[in-house]
Amino acid sequence: MDLIEDIVTPFNIQASEKGVDYDKLIAQFGCQKVLPAHIKEIEEITGKKAHHLLRRGIYFAHRDLEMILNTAKMKKPFYLYTGRGPSSAALHLGHMIPFILNKWLQEVFDVPVVIQITDDEKYLYRQELSLEQVKHFSRENIRDIIACGFDLNKTFIFTDTSYINFLYPNFLKMQKHLTVNQIFGCFGFNGSDCVGKIAYPPLQAVPAFSNSFPHIFRNKNDIPCLIPEAIDQDPYFRLTRDIAPKINYLKPAVLHAKFFPALQGLHTKMSASDENTAIYLTDSKKEIERKIKSFAFSGGGKTLQDHREKGANLEVDVPFQYLSFLMEDDERLDEIRQKYGKGEITTGEVKKDLIGLLQKLVEDHKVKKKEVTDELIDKFMEIRELDVKL
Ligand code: TRP
Repeated sequence: MDLIEDIVTPFNIQASEKGVDYDKLIAQFGCQKVLPAHIKEIEEITGKKAHHLLRRGIYFAHRDLEMILNTAKMKKPFYLYTGRGPSSAALHLGHMIPFILNKWLQEVFDVPVVIQITDDEKYLYRQELSLEQVKHFSRENIRDIIACGFDLNKTFIFTDTSYINFLYPNFLKMQKHLTVNQIFGCFGFNGSDCVGKIAYPPLQAVPAFSNSFPHIFRNKNDIPCLIPEAIDQDPYFRLTRDIAPKINYLKPAVLHAKFFPALQGLHTKMSASDENTAIYLTDSKKEIERKIKSFAFSGGGKTLQDHREKGANLEVDVPFQYLSFLMEDDERLDEIRQKYGKGEITTGEVKKDLIGLLQKLVEDHKVKKKEVTDELIDKFMEIRELDVKL
């Protein structure tokens, strides 16, 4: 049934079994489609084949991407901004997606990345969490993020509670121009929500202004910022872009990804609050196998005969969707698309491929994570100059 409208907010995602209608969402949010011409331009500027997350339309929408590409074309500086709300100790595969793309963009464009860890946000929004717990999660999450391969000389990671003195001036400027009604309208809060929750959103805006990082950008307030993220974060940056000109700052550009689906299907995203909807970066090989085999929603035919005749519905098939997010090998993916779509191979066979790929990805990540020492975490968080060309 398609009667119900999709719900897409930073706090909740609900759609029909076909998943979120992303074209509708673009119209509703008022952002633009990423076009083949953008991908081509990225390839021309960087001289590298575009990342598969871009080529396969997973990063599908943007605001002002042209501004960033023009900046890069003129060899002028820009920077990337991303973040993580530390609501659990272990990250899952869905959390990895923005970090994978940010890392790639950092490498091919040779630009700095700032990563905001919103310990304040999760403390305020999650009734059950203490500030101490959230601080612990922050550190563990930073370990995972570093393991994604960010370049120490070009990356600054900060928690809001530790870096607040640098953020506060721009936070004040945002707050002065933002009414409570705007926040209520944008995030659906009401007068019985705690004040911290209502006051938080402008803090997520602040890292999009380059003078929030004087140790990286000196006092320049005109270094353009690109925010690659999942589209549920758009409300924060709609607000940011609304207010930026009023306080004489540039509007940040955004690049939006589709959601990484839950194991059970495309009606919602992978979520850390329900263990069986997610594959964690700490899962054992056995757990990965069990979760994929028992939970990953299949778009294959109900019976083998049915499957051989009609083939699989790839649009709702979770194993195929995961492969398109994570399998680098284009040829193999295409072969699976063809054969599975025609019913020549079964869900069981596709799941086998996926299990192997996920086990390798997670095991490799565990190895890299082990190499991230406490000293290295401190280095990434240290207030220091980065290797940037201004
Ligand atoms: N609010 C995000 C979360 O809950 C964390 C975040 C902060 C973020 N700044 C960001 C995400 C910038 C993307 C881009 O996970």
